[in-house]
Amino acid sequence: MRKPKLFLHIFFLVIVLVLGSSSAFFSSITIGATAAPENITLTWSADPKTTQTITWRTAVATVGGQVQYAEAVSGHLFPDHAITITAGVEALHTNIGEMAIHSSILTGLKPNTRYVYRVGGTEGWSQPQYFTTAPSIAQNFTFLVFGDSQSINYNVWGTTLHQAYQANHQAAFFTNVGDLVDVGQDYSQWNSWFRAGQGVVDTIPVMPVTGNHEFYTSQRRQFTLPVLFTSQIKLPLNGPDNLMGQVYSFDYGDVHFVMLNSQEGEQHAFVPDMLERQKTWLENDLQSTRKKWKLGFIHRPLYNNKPGDGEITISKAFGPIFDKYHVDVVFTGHDHAYARTYPLRGGMVTASPDQGTIYVATGRSGTKTYQNLLAKDWDEFFYDPQDEPNYLVVTVSQTTLQVKAVKQSGGLIDNWTIYK
Ligand SMILES: [Fe+2]
Repeated sequence: MRKPKLFLHIFFLVIVLVLGSSSAFFSSITIGATAAPENITLTWSADPKTTQTITWRTAVATVGGQVQYAEAVSGHLFPDHAITITAGVEALHTNIGEMAIHSSILTGLKPNTRYVYRVGGTEGWSQPQYFTTAPSIAQNFTFLVFGDSQSINYNVWGTTLHQAYQANHQAAFFTNVGDLVDVGQDYSQWNSWFRAGQGVVDTIPVMPVTGNHEFYTSQRRQFTLPVLFTSQIKLPLNGPDNLMGQVYSFDYGDVHFVMLNSQEGEQHAFVPDMLERQKTWLENDLQSTRKKWKLGFIHRPLYNNKPGDGEITISKAFGPIFDKYHVDVVFTGHDHAYARTYPLRGGMVTASPDQGTIYVATGRSGTKTYQNLLAKDWDEFFYDPQDEPNYLVVTVSQTTLQVKAVKQSGGLIDNWTIYK
């Protein structure tokens, strides 16, 4: 009676070994890290004109990860003269096991130049990918903004991202206004997010802000610091103390970008004065920029699209500073609506965008929708993206800032321009 059972065990073991030798099989079921570089991500932690930050993960046993890069030339062979640099490595403890996060900042790059790169080392290299540095003199450029990508199926987020990039191949980078994943301390969700993004997130930098879900553990209503966000998404460390890597600013062309954190409820236990710290920092930051356009990004909206008053504390903290320094547009998330307000100053409608700030609720790039969204008095335009996810295409020239809200499948929701 025992022989058939033993035979079945051996039969299944052989099947597993045969299938396991196929990398395609492994990649569809394995969520832990391997020796191969995965989740390769571009960000800027320094000047977009002359640097490029590249981060990836492997199994923890892999040390001495390297980046090779060179100016891109035509042809398919990886250039012989590529520069090789060794990346920094840190151990990351996650709910699905230990892994190593490798990261390197390429410096001394030529502005407005296309580079080819690959990551890995003696155990093998990733497929070559390309990136382009920012021009040294401000030119017209486009970037993409994605609303909350938290999903029950991250292929939906992947489709939104890929459709957006395919339709806007000139995009210099993209941002995400928070709630990238549903459970911020569940690495399997990050795995899905990064995998869905390969082909874009390894080609143009991602410059996101955190949302409340980045602080969630799998125990409901228990919060931690957004460790999986900050360890893999390497952003400029020019923010306030204790909020470095979450709150930051950077320049691209003639635009100054300020990236804030609205998670007072989730982060209060770790940084009790987080709003005060950000207010002081934001004042200094906006005071010192000479850029023509100023854009803000924050997860929770100052002007919401749900019943009730919404985030009064956040409005009181940041609204007067946005007014004082005339931030042109503030992009928000959290409500999963697409909406734009009239130009507002002190909560009042102003005659033109010269005098007020336009607040834009970005919409949703993943699967999650809400059933209780509504237009508010302050909205000049409102759209509830129940039918499909959406994204924003922002194009900046010397005299105009154009925002297009687009459905995942390409349909136009809204198209507006500010002139300066
Ligand atoms: Fe949220």
